[in-house]
Amino acid sequence: MIRRVLAIETSCDDTSVAIVEADGFVKRVISANQDRKHRVFGGIVPEIAGRTHIEMLLPLIEECLQLAGMTWDHIDGIAVTNRPGLVGSLIVGVVTAKSLSLALNKPLIGVNHLEAHLLAPFLRDDEYAPPEDFQYPFIALAISGGHTHLYYVTGLGEYSILGMTRDDAAGEAFDKFAKLAGLGFPGGVKVDQWAKQGSVDAYDFPRALIHEDNFDFSFSGLKTSAQRQVQSMDKEELKTHLPDLCASFQEAIVDVLIAKMEKALRRYNINRAVFTGGVSANSRLRQRVEEWSQKNHFQSVIPPIRYCTDNAAMVGLVGIQRLQQGEEDGQELAPSPRVYEKDFQFAEKS
Ligand code: KG4
Ligand code: ZN
Repeated sequence: MIRRVLAIETSCDDTSVAIVEADGFVKRVISANQDRKHRVFGGIVPEIAGRTHIEMLLPLIEECLQLAGMTWDHIDGIAVTNRPGLVGSLIVGVVTAKSLSLALNKPLIGVNHLEAHLLAPFLRDDEYAPPEDFQYPFIALAISGGHTHLYYVTGLGEYSILGMTRDDAAGEAFDKFAKLAGLGFPGGVKVDQWAKQGSVDAYDFPRALIHEDNFDFSFSGLKTSAQRQVQSMDKEELKTHLPDLCASFQEAIVDVLIAKMEKALRRYNINRAVFTGGVSANSRLRQRVEEWSQKNHFQSVIPPIRYCTDNAAMVGLVGIQRLQQGEEDGQELAPSPRVYEKDFQFAEKS
């Protein structure tokens, strides 16, 4: 019986380990953030990410077991993100998980990182539980550094892609804008903070595709428009107007994300919405989603920030559910920069 798994996440620049139980209860999750190492380069350097995972992972696994007051005897399986992501980062988690599985004779399961984001709202711990009546089906918006995808989710492994970004991901747009405005790395959090003192309608930035009858996104026009605005200012002006710029830029993204979600909910006649992935940590998005849900009687679930940004708990949740239904990977499990073809279906365009 699979009662508990140890999960590993190393797909990008966060090293994370968790122990997750069958009902989604997170016994423990610990993560090591590498921001400090990448900040000087203004973005993630894959070689540094991979090497840092090597340094961090084994000590984190030991610490996680210790903090949970457990030994390997309490662990019934190993879950690891093997796709998609930076191969040099993924490989560290995958090789470690395979070695543990072999040495300890415990079943292994490779997890799709995006599926993990999608199911993160089902996690629970001492401080968080999803609403009691939260269940499938729902529409989920996965918004992170590499993805802006809208999904129709009907069950474990049943994910139809309704639409996605045609160019930059929402998180990428935040990060590029932050760099441009000299806010540093990681960008999304900085824009979020600066925006708190700014006015959302100080600048009229474009909301691409907002009225179009599809579920696609595009953020490159917004980026160019913001770039033009920033370049038209001298240093002093930029400093003075930074809060307004950040607030207006952020509002343009939030407007589009909510509008497309609403369009999907109405099209599929569903009232349950999930916002997940790093960008759903955004404080303005969280506030706007709450107001919008109340007004429209939608049930919106945004996992707590610790389960929105990359973490191993969400990997453990998918891993344990898949192991429980009899799936298992062998020593041939390999890292993949892309998702597998079987991971997602495409909804028919209507
Ligand atoms: O899901 P995630 O942790 O990693 C990926 O799988 O990409 O998402 C990272 C992205 C970054 O682009 C980061 O700037 C963005 O999430 N992000 C935010 C906030 N916190 C993280 N964007 C806007 N506001 C935030 N508070
Ligand atoms: Zn992610």
